[in-house]
Amino acid sequence: MTEEIKLFTRDELKCRNSREDAILIIHNGVYDVTKFLDEHPGGEEVLLEMAGQDATEPFEDVSHSSDARSLMKKYKIGELVEADRTQSKTAFSPQWNNDQQQEQGNSSWSSWLLPLLLGVAATVLYRFLFL
Ligand code: HEM
Repeated sequence: MTEEIKLFTRDELKCRNSREDAILIIHNGVYDVTKFLDEHPGGEEVLLEMAGQDATEPFEDVSHSSDARSLMKKYKIGELVEADRTQSKTAFSPQWNNDQQQEQGNSSWSSWLLPLLLGVAATVLYRFLFL
């Protein structure tokens, strides 16, 4: 896919907040929800309230389903210019994953060390008591 992504600034999107032209910024992506207003299961009011603005937080607060997230793609018209982007949750997630992996690494380390020490202790005890 060599299609170019259209870039927008937050300033130029601010005025696109009417029923006739409604855009949303979610995770630095720009969505034209004008035709979706009537169909949104959460109602058009919530979308219009956030139109022209960054709706990432309210969007995530509702914890939309994966169906809703794939539906979003249909309405995507572009992205924010680099300078206007925020550090989104997705940008943090690799770090978060690393932390998780480290934690998992630590717990697997202790999960084999403890049985090993118990095994050594049991062997020593056995030798002293029975040999
Ligand atoms: C392109 C953007 C959006 C899409 C495609 C979308 C799609 C959907 C879908 C499919 C549902 C049904 C439940 C689900 O599947 O999760 C839903 C529910 C809902 N959405 Fe959105 N939504 C969008 C943006 C937003 C935003 C920005 C807000 C808040 C400002 C919002 C607020 C809600 C609420 C309150 C519900 C109802 C939840 C319920 O009754 O349980 N949505 N949305």
